[in-house]
Amino acid sequence: MSEKITVRDIIKKKGKEKIIAITSYDYPTTLLIDSVGVDLILVGDSLGMTVLGYDSTLPVTLEDMIRHTAAVARARPRALVVTDMPFMTYESSKRDALVNAAKLLRAGAEAVKIEGGIEYADTIETLVNAGIPVLGHIGLTPQRKNKLGGYRLMGKDPESAEKVLEDAKAVEEAGAFAVVIEFTTAEVTKVVTEMLKIPTIGIGSGPYCDGQIIVIHDIIGLTQNPPPFAKKYVDVSPLIVEGVRRYKEEVLLGKFPSKEHYWHAPNDVRAYLKKKYERDFYI
Ligand code: KIV
Repeated sequence: MSEKITVRDIIKKKGKEKIIAITSYDYPTTLLIDSVGVDLILVGDSLGMTVLGYDSTLPVTLEDMIRHTAAVARARPRALVVTDMPFMTYESSKRDALVNAAKLLRAGAEAVKIEGGIEYADTIETLVNAGIPVLGHIGLTPQRKNKLGGYRLMGKDPESAEKVLEDAKAVEEAGAFAVVIEFTTAEVTKVVTEMLKIPTIGIGSGPYCDGQIIVIHDIIGLTQNPPPFAKKYVDVSPLIVEGVRRYKEEVLLGKFPSKEHYWHAPNDVRAYLKKKYERDFYI
């Protein structure tokens, strides 16, 4: 489990072994996640909600993504590090997309993720031609929530199913190394997975994908309003509350800090302080 995972390793897993992907936004969490042995760590723009307290991903800036990507990269994970290009950092022009993706790679990303299918296929192709691996993202694309009319399940009618299929084809043809399919019916996702040569990585899209991705805060119980497809495996919230509660209690009772958590000045300094400032030290 020591070799660094590359884009090629992710592609090779299709049809052989499930791809395990998860978000991370900081250094210590990345160390913990990577110790389990996952394939792909996404510095998702979901950090807007999970870490920064916004109610959508729209306010997330390139600077936010650069800072969190750098923190994740400093953990030197074995997993492939992919960073989301946030809202309005790739839509205006291919040049902007290139300049902004380059900033994310300089911060430590090894690939970028772009939301959108046919509409952004040219942009994906431009980035890939410049040597920047791209993870596609189709189905529900949260950055387009205002256009979509909210966070709605995709692939519920033939028109929506066809849109997902067309997007999938466009993203593959543009050169993406894999594609995330979010909140899309399992049947449509199955057709996409069987149709594409590149791996599909699902979230809220059923079991037929080549891999799954999930938001770390959702699985450890740190999300206030998790999406319907999230699963909580553990709940760290009571542990955090209990830690803070006990700290507060011990400070109020004078139990913290105890002698293993502070240090004395040498005797000559104590004597000097006592003489000059007329203080007695009882501890
Ligand atoms: O931002 C994010 O975390 C994502 C995943 C939900 C796929 O895009």
